[in-house]
Amino acid sequence: VVLRLILLGSPGSGKGTQARMLQEGYQIVHVSTGDILRRAIQAQTELGRLAQSYMDDGNLVPDDVMLRLVKETLDAPRYEAGYVLDGFPRTVPQSTAFESMLLQWGAALTAVISLEVNREVLIHRLSGRRVCPECATTYHIDQLDPSGELRCTRDGALLVQRKDDDAQAVAIRFDAFERETLPLKQFYRDRGLLREIDGSRATGEVFKDIQRILA
Ligand code: AP5
Repeated sequence: VVLRLILLGSPGSGKGTQARMLQEGYQIVHVSTGDILRRAIQAQTELGRLAQSYMDDGNLVPDDVMLRLVKETLDAPRYEAGYVLDGFPRTVPQSTAFESMLLQWGAALTAVISLEVNREVLIHRLSGRRVCPECATTYHIDQLDPSGELRCTRDGALLVQRKDDDAQAVAIRFDAFERETLPLKQFYRDRGLLREIDGSRATGEVFKDIQRILA
């Protein structure tokens, strides 16, 4: 069976972390719309220039831009073996339009996994997050040696903090999540696809739950 998964969850809930584990464990492609946008900003493409001000402030990028991006991305042969979407869809109009896209492609979703994490834990995770600017791997300062330089264990690049991880942007992102993305849980519950798991536990424990869902 071809796995087509959506990871839902607040900023900092661990979507990127779990999606990378799924990519390695299940040979499916990790599609992070946030990473695609950040690469476009770095390369200063037209998309990047358009997305930057929204993203830096913590606001969502407009639906029509995101839908075009996802359509162009997923309509390629490498996605036929399956994928895990991290950060898309994130509004009801996005999920409705994505449903039509899937129908057109004759593809069905396997599951929508919602990572449930409380606000206190989310703030701790986001304020301590460091990311590799080269490969987008995510770390937390709790796991890093504070005495040395913070470098990526994969490619040695110096880790950085995301612009939208400052307190002001984080507050706007939480608001956007509650207003725009939380309603998606009901959308996918109505379709029998929603699976909720406790995302506040250790990374490996959360992944085991996902594996159980996929077994
Ligand atoms: P995006 O990049 O998708 O950010 P996000 O949804 O805010 O999610 P995060 O990346 O902050 O968190 P995460 O859940 O991936 O957690 P992570 O694994 O890193 O989007 C950024 C922006 O792009 C948006 O604000 C918007 O502007 C735009 N955008 C993107 N998609 C869009 C769309 N579809 N429509 C409109 N706009 C869009 O983990 C967080 C930290 O916790 C890390 O330090 C990690 O090491 C640690 N951690 C993870 N799991 C655990 C665990 N189990 N225990 C302890 N620590 C953990």
